Amino acid sequence: MTEPTAAPQPAASLPSPAPAALPSTPPPGPGAPILEAHDLAKRYAVGDNVVEALRGVSLTVAPGEFVAFMGPSGSGKSTLLQLLGGLDRPTAGRVVLEGRDISALTDAEATRLRRERTGFVFQFFNLIPVLDVRENVALPFTIAGLDPTRGETRERVQAAIDTVELTGRERNRPDQLSAGEQQRVAIARALVTRPALLLADEPTGNLDFATGSEVLEVLHRSCHERGQTIVLVTHDAKAAAYADRVFVFDDGRVRDEIVLGRRMDHAAAPLISRLAQLGL
Ligand SMILES: Nc1ncnc2c1ncn2[C@@H]1O[C@H](COP(=O)(O)OP(=O)(O)OP(=O)(O)O)[C@@H](O)[C@H]1O
Ligand SMILES: [Mg+2]
Repeated sequence: MTEPTAAPQPAASLPSPAPAALPSTPPPGPGAPILEAHDLAKRYAVGDNVVEALRGVSLTVAPGEFVAFMGPSGSGKSTLLQLLGGLDRPTAGRVVLEGRDISALTDAEATRLRRERTGFVFQFFNLIPVLDVRENVALPFTIAGLDPTRGETRERVQAAIDTVELTGRERNRPDQLSAGEQQRVAIARALVTRPALLLADEPTGNLDFATGSEVLEVLHRSCHERGQTIVLVTHDAKAAAYADRVFVFDDGRVRDEIVLGRRMDHAAAPLISRLAQLGL
Protein backbone atom coordinates (compact mmCIF):
# COMPACT_ATOMS: atom_id res chain seq x y z
CA MET A 1 0.00 0.00 0.00
CA THR A 2 1.23 3.49 -0.81
CA GLU A 3 1.56 5.80 2.17
CA PRO A 4 -0.91 8.71 2.15
CA THR A 5 0.80 12.02 1.54
CA ALA A 6 -1.10 14.13 4.04
CA ALA A 7 -1.94 13.75 7.69
CA PRO A 8 -5.60 13.06 8.50
CA GLN A 9 -7.75 16.00 9.49
CA PRO A 10 -7.81 16.79 13.20
CA ALA A 11 -10.93 15.86 15.09
CA ALA A 12 -13.70 18.44 14.93
CA SER A 13 -13.34 20.72 17.92
CA LEU A 14 -16.60 22.61 17.63
CA PRO A 15 -18.99 22.46 20.56
CA SER A 16 -22.00 20.26 20.07
CA PRO A 17 -25.27 20.47 21.96
CA ALA A 18 -25.91 16.74 21.43
CA PRO A 19 -26.87 15.28 24.81
CA ALA A 20 -24.77 12.13 25.09
CA ALA A 21 -21.04 12.29 25.72
CA LEU A 22 -19.03 9.63 23.94
CA PRO A 23 -17.07 7.40 26.29
CA SER A 24 -13.43 8.44 26.15
CA THR A 25 -10.99 5.97 24.67
CA PRO A 26 -7.23 6.31 24.29
CA PRO A 27 -6.34 7.66 20.84
CA PRO A 28 -5.19 4.98 18.40
CA GLY A 29 -1.41 4.62 18.27
CA PRO A 30 0.76 5.47 15.27
CA GLY A 31 0.15 3.15 12.35
CA ALA A 32 -3.15 2.01 13.86
CA PRO A 33 -6.06 1.57 11.43
CA ILE A 34 -8.72 4.27 11.55
CA LEU A 35 -11.43 1.69 10.80
CA GLU A 36 -11.67 -2.01 11.63
CA ALA A 37 -14.38 -4.54 10.80
CA HIS A 38 -14.14 -7.77 12.77
CA ASP A 39 -16.07 -10.77 11.51
CA LEU A 40 -19.19 -8.78 10.66
CA ALA A 41 -22.40 -10.63 10.01
CA LYS A 42 -25.77 -9.12 9.11
CA ARG A 43 -28.95 -11.13 8.83
CA TYR A 44 -32.25 -9.63 7.67
CA ALA A 45 -35.50 -11.39 8.45
CA VAL A 46 -38.45 -10.47 6.24
CA GLY A 47 -41.48 -12.59 7.07
CA ASP A 48 -40.29 -16.23 7.00
CA ASN A 49 -37.40 -15.32 4.78
CA VAL A 50 -33.90 -14.78 6.20
CA VAL A 51 -31.20 -13.10 4.12
CA GLU A 52 -27.56 -13.42 5.11
CA ALA A 53 -26.39 -10.06 3.76
CA LEU A 54 -22.92 -10.33 5.37
CA ARG A 55 -21.29 -13.61 6.38
CA GLY A 56 -18.14 -12.74 8.30
CA VAL A 57 -16.40 -9.68 6.86
CA SER A 58 -13.10 -8.51 8.35
CA LEU A 59 -11.03 -5.63 6.99
CA THR A 60 -9.07 -2.60 8.11
CA VAL A 61 -8.63 0.87 6.59
CA ALA A 62 -5.58 3.05 7.32
CA PRO A 63 -5.90 6.79 8.07
CA GLY A 64 -5.95 8.75 4.82
CA GLU A 65 -6.58 5.68 2.70
CA PHE A 66 -9.05 5.56 -0.22
CA VAL A 67 -10.76 2.18 -0.38
CA ALA A 68 -13.40 0.97 -2.86
CA PHE A 69 -15.97 -1.82 -2.51
CA MET A 70 -17.07 -3.61 -5.69
CA GLY A 71 -19.16 -6.71 -6.30
CA PRO A 72 -22.44 -7.86 -7.81
CA SER A 73 -25.82 -6.45 -6.85
CA GLY A 74 -26.93 -7.91 -3.52
CA SER A 75 -23.41 -8.88 -2.42
CA GLY A 76 -23.69 -6.76 0.75
CA LYS A 77 -21.75 -3.58 -0.13
CA SER A 78 -24.36 -1.06 1.05
CA THR A 79 -25.14 -3.14 4.12
CA LEU A 80 -21.46 -3.08 5.07
CA LEU A 81 -21.19 0.67 4.47
CA GLN A 82 -24.13 1.25 6.80
CA LEU A 83 -22.52 -0.84 9.53
CA LEU A 84 -19.17 0.93 9.11
CA GLY A 85 -20.87 4.32 9.43
CA GLY A 86 -23.00 3.35 12.43
CA LEU A 87 -26.28 3.70 10.49
CA ASP A 88 -27.16 0.12 11.40
CA ARG A 89 -25.88 -2.55 13.80
CA PRO A 90 -24.34 -5.91 12.91
CA THR A 91 -26.01 -9.18 13.88
CA ALA A 92 -22.54 -10.33 14.98
CA GLY A 93 -19.04 -8.88 14.93
CA ARG A 94 -17.61 -5.46 15.72
CA VAL A 95 -16.86 -2.15 14.02
CA VAL A 96 -14.03 -0.09 15.53
CA LEU A 97 -13.70 3.54 14.39
CA GLU A 98 -10.74 5.55 15.68
CA GLY A 99 -10.14 2.89 18.32
CA ARG A 100 -13.73 2.96 19.61
CA ASP A 101 -16.04 -0.04 19.34
CA ILE A 102 -19.09 1.60 17.76
CA SER A 103 -21.17 -1.56 17.92
CA ALA A 104 -21.22 -1.14 21.72
CA LEU A 105 -22.49 2.47 21.71
CA THR A 106 -25.94 3.43 22.91
CA ASP A 107 -28.29 4.84 20.26
CA ALA A 108 -27.61 8.41 21.42
CA GLU A 109 -23.85 7.85 21.31
CA ALA A 110 -24.10 6.24 17.86
CA THR A 111 -26.11 9.22 16.58
CA ARG A 112 -23.51 11.60 17.89
CA LEU A 113 -20.65 9.59 16.40
CA ARG A 114 -22.42 9.55 13.04
CA ARG A 115 -22.89 13.30 13.09
CA GLU A 116 -19.40 14.17 14.22
CA ARG A 117 -17.09 11.51 12.83
CA THR A 118 -18.67 10.18 9.63
CA GLY A 119 -19.97 11.80 6.44
CA PHE A 120 -22.26 10.03 3.96
CA VAL A 121 -22.79 10.63 0.25
CA PHE A 122 -25.43 8.70 -1.71
CA GLN A 123 -26.39 8.16 -5.34
CA PHE A 124 -29.23 10.67 -5.10
CA PHE A 125 -27.90 13.87 -3.72
CA ASN A 126 -30.63 14.47 -1.09
CA LEU A 127 -30.20 18.24 -1.14
CA ILE A 128 -32.91 20.51 0.25
CA PRO A 129 -34.40 22.26 -2.82
CA VAL A 130 -35.33 25.53 -1.09
CA LEU A 131 -31.87 26.03 0.44
CA ASP A 132 -28.92 27.49 -1.46
CA VAL A 133 -25.48 25.88 -1.68
CA ARG A 134 -24.17 27.55 1.45
CA GLU A 135 -27.27 26.59 3.48
CA ASN A 136 -27.20 22.99 2.23
CA VAL A 137 -23.50 22.61 3.08
CA ALA A 138 -24.12 24.18 6.50
CA LEU A 139 -26.93 21.75 7.39
CA PRO A 140 -24.88 19.52 9.75
CA PHE A 141 -24.01 22.62 11.80
CA THR A 142 -27.60 23.93 11.71
CA ILE A 143 -28.89 20.54 12.87
CA ALA A 144 -26.34 20.60 15.72
CA GLY A 145 -27.76 23.97 16.81
CA LEU A 146 -24.73 26.01 15.70
CA ASP A 147 -24.94 29.29 13.76
CA PRO A 148 -23.21 28.64 10.43
CA THR A 149 -23.23 32.30 9.40
CA ARG A 150 -20.46 33.42 11.74
CA GLY A 151 -17.05 32.56 13.10
CA GLU A 152 -15.33 29.22 12.59
CA THR A 153 -18.44 27.44 11.33
CA ARG A 154 -18.81 30.03 8.56
CA GLU A 155 -15.16 29.55 7.59
CA ARG A 156 -15.58 25.79 7.52
CA VAL A 157 -18.64 26.04 5.27
CA GLN A 158 -16.71 28.24 2.85
CA ALA A 159 -13.66 25.94 2.97
CA ALA A 160 -15.84 22.92 2.11
CA ILE A 161 -17.43 24.83 -0.81
CA ASP A 162 -13.94 25.81 -2.03
CA THR A 163 -12.73 22.19 -1.76
CA VAL A 164 -15.43 20.98 -4.16
CA GLU A 165 -14.73 23.94 -6.47
CA LEU A 166 -18.10 25.64 -6.13
CA THR A 167 -16.70 29.00 -5.08
CA GLY A 168 -18.96 31.71 -6.50
CA ARG A 169 -22.03 29.42 -6.55
CA GLU A 170 -22.89 29.89 -2.88
CA ARG A 171 -26.29 31.48 -3.58
CA ASN A 172 -27.44 28.94 -6.20
CA ARG A 173 -30.25 26.58 -5.28
CA PRO A 174 -29.92 22.91 -6.35
CA ASP A 175 -32.19 23.43 -9.40
CA GLN A 176 -29.72 26.09 -10.56
CA LEU A 177 -26.83 23.60 -10.61
CA SER A 178 -25.81 20.69 -12.88
CA ALA A 179 -26.10 17.14 -11.54
CA GLY A 180 -22.35 16.93 -10.95
CA GLU A 181 -22.37 20.25 -9.11
CA GLN A 182 -25.27 19.02 -6.95
CA GLN A 183 -23.29 15.93 -6.00
CA ARG A 184 -20.31 18.13 -5.15
CA VAL A 185 -22.59 20.11 -2.79
CA ALA A 186 -23.52 16.81 -1.14
CA ILE A 187 -19.81 15.99 -0.77
CA ALA A 188 -19.11 19.42 0.75
CA ARG A 189 -21.96 18.84 3.21
CA ALA A 190 -20.44 15.47 4.15
CA LEU A 191 -16.96 16.99 4.57
CA VAL A 192 -17.92 20.16 6.46
CA THR A 193 -17.70 18.53 9.90
CA ARG A 194 -14.23 17.15 8.98
CA PRO A 195 -15.29 13.55 9.56
CA ALA A 196 -12.80 10.78 10.25
CA LEU A 197 -14.48 8.75 7.56
CA LEU A 198 -16.27 9.69 4.33
CA LEU A 199 -18.60 6.92 3.12
CA ALA A 200 -19.93 7.17 -0.43
CA ASP A 201 -22.48 4.72 -1.87
CA GLU A 202 -22.55 4.88 -5.69
CA PRO A 203 -21.97 8.66 -5.73
CA THR A 204 -21.49 8.60 -9.52
CA GLY A 205 -24.30 6.11 -10.21
CA ASN A 206 -26.60 8.86 -11.43
CA LEU A 207 -24.01 10.80 -13.44
CA ASP A 208 -22.55 10.55 -16.93
CA PHE A 209 -18.88 9.66 -17.30
CA ALA A 210 -17.46 13.20 -17.52
CA THR A 211 -19.54 14.48 -14.61
CA GLY A 212 -18.81 11.39 -12.56
CA SER A 213 -15.09 11.95 -13.15
CA GLU A 214 -15.34 15.48 -11.71
CA VAL A 215 -16.92 14.02 -8.56
CA LEU A 216 -14.22 11.35 -8.29
CA GLU A 217 -11.50 13.97 -8.75
CA VAL A 218 -12.97 15.93 -5.82
CA LEU A 219 -13.03 12.80 -3.65
CA HIS A 220 -9.49 11.88 -4.65
CA ARG A 221 -8.20 15.38 -3.98
CA SER A 222 -9.72 15.49 -0.50
CA CYS A 223 -7.93 12.22 0.21
CA HIS A 224 -4.62 13.05 -1.42
CA GLU A 225 -4.27 16.67 -0.28
CA ARG A 226 -6.10 16.64 3.06
CA GLY A 227 -5.72 13.05 4.20
CA GLN A 228 -9.46 12.32 4.14
CA THR A 229 -10.17 8.60 4.64
CA ILE A 230 -12.74 7.43 2.07
CA VAL A 231 -14.75 4.26 1.51
CA LEU A 232 -16.45 4.25 -1.90
CA VAL A 233 -19.03 1.69 -3.08
CA THR A 234 -19.23 1.44 -6.86
CA HIS A 235 -20.16 -0.89 -9.71
CA ASP A 236 -17.81 0.96 -12.02
CA ALA A 237 -14.18 -0.19 -12.31
CA LYS A 238 -13.23 3.26 -13.66
CA ALA A 239 -14.50 4.78 -10.41
CA ALA A 240 -12.88 2.11 -8.22
CA ALA A 241 -9.58 2.82 -10.00
CA TYR A 242 -9.35 6.08 -8.04
CA ALA A 243 -8.89 4.03 -4.85
CA ASP A 244 -5.67 2.79 -3.26
CA ARG A 245 -7.24 -0.61 -2.58
CA VAL A 246 -10.32 -2.43 -3.85
CA PHE A 247 -12.28 -5.09 -1.96
CA VAL A 248 -14.39 -7.35 -4.16
CA PHE A 249 -17.48 -8.77 -2.46
CA ASP A 250 -19.52 -11.81 -3.34
CA ASP A 251 -22.48 -13.20 -1.46
CA GLY A 252 -21.72 -11.35 1.78
CA ARG A 253 -18.01 -12.17 1.87
CA VAL A 254 -14.76 -10.53 0.79
CA ARG A 255 -13.81 -12.46 -2.32
CA ASP A 256 -10.62 -10.59 -3.16
CA GLU A 257 -8.52 -7.59 -2.23
CA ILE A 258 -6.70 -5.72 -5.00
CA VAL A 259 -3.95 -3.26 -4.08
CA LEU A 260 -3.60 -0.47 -6.62
CA GLY A 261 -1.54 2.03 -4.60
CA ARG A 262 -1.78 5.81 -4.75
CA ARG A 263 -1.71 6.80 -8.43
CA MET A 264 -2.45 10.12 -10.06
CA ASP A 265 -3.52 8.74 -13.46
CA HIS A 266 -6.38 6.52 -12.15
CA ALA A 267 -5.87 4.11 -15.08
CA ALA A 268 -8.48 1.37 -14.77
CA ALA A 269 -6.73 -1.21 -16.98
CA PRO A 270 -4.85 -3.04 -14.15
CA LEU A 271 -8.04 -3.33 -12.09
CA ILE A 272 -10.16 -4.40 -15.07
CA SER A 273 -7.70 -7.15 -16.00
CA ARG A 274 -7.60 -8.41 -12.39
CA LEU A 275 -11.42 -8.42 -12.25
CA ALA A 276 -11.46 -10.34 -15.54
CA GLN A 277 -9.15 -12.97 -13.99
CA LEU A 278 -11.73 -13.33 -11.22
CA GLY A 279 -14.42 -13.79 -13.86
CA LEU A 280 -16.16 -10.53 -12.96
N1 LIG B 1 -33.37 -3.60 5.01
C1 LIG B 1 -33.28 -4.82 4.45
N2 LIG B 1 -34.18 -5.76 4.72
C2 LIG B 1 -34.09 -6.99 4.17
N3 LIG B 1 -33.13 -7.37 3.31
C3 LIG B 1 -32.22 -6.46 2.98
C4 LIG B 1 -32.23 -5.13 3.53
N4 LIG B 1 -31.19 -4.44 3.03
C5 LIG B 1 -30.55 -5.29 2.21
N5 LIG B 1 -31.14 -6.50 2.19
C6 LIG B 1 -30.71 -7.68 1.44
O1 LIG B 1 -29.34 -7.92 1.78
C7 LIG B 1 -28.58 -8.29 0.64
C8 LIG B 1 -27.43 -7.31 0.46
O2 LIG B 1 -27.98 -6.05 0.11
P1 LIG B 1 -27.09 -4.77 -0.17
O3 LIG B 1 -28.03 -3.63 -0.39
O4 LIG B 1 -26.09 -4.63 0.89
O5 LIG B 1 -26.36 -5.17 -1.54
P2 LIG B 1 -25.44 -4.29 -2.50
O6 LIG B 1 -24.18 -5.05 -2.70
O7 LIG B 1 -25.33 -2.91 -1.98
O8 LIG B 1 -26.28 -4.32 -3.85
P3 LIG B 1 -26.42 -3.16 -4.99
O9 LIG B 1 -25.15 -3.22 -5.78
O10 LIG B 1 -27.60 -3.62 -5.81
O11 LIG B 1 -26.66 -1.85 -4.33
C9 LIG B 1 -29.56 -8.34 -0.51
O12 LIG B 1 -29.99 -9.67 -0.68
C10 LIG B 1 -30.69 -7.47 -0.06
O13 LIG B 1 -31.90 -7.87 -0.63
MG1 LIG C 1 -25.96 -1.06 -2.70
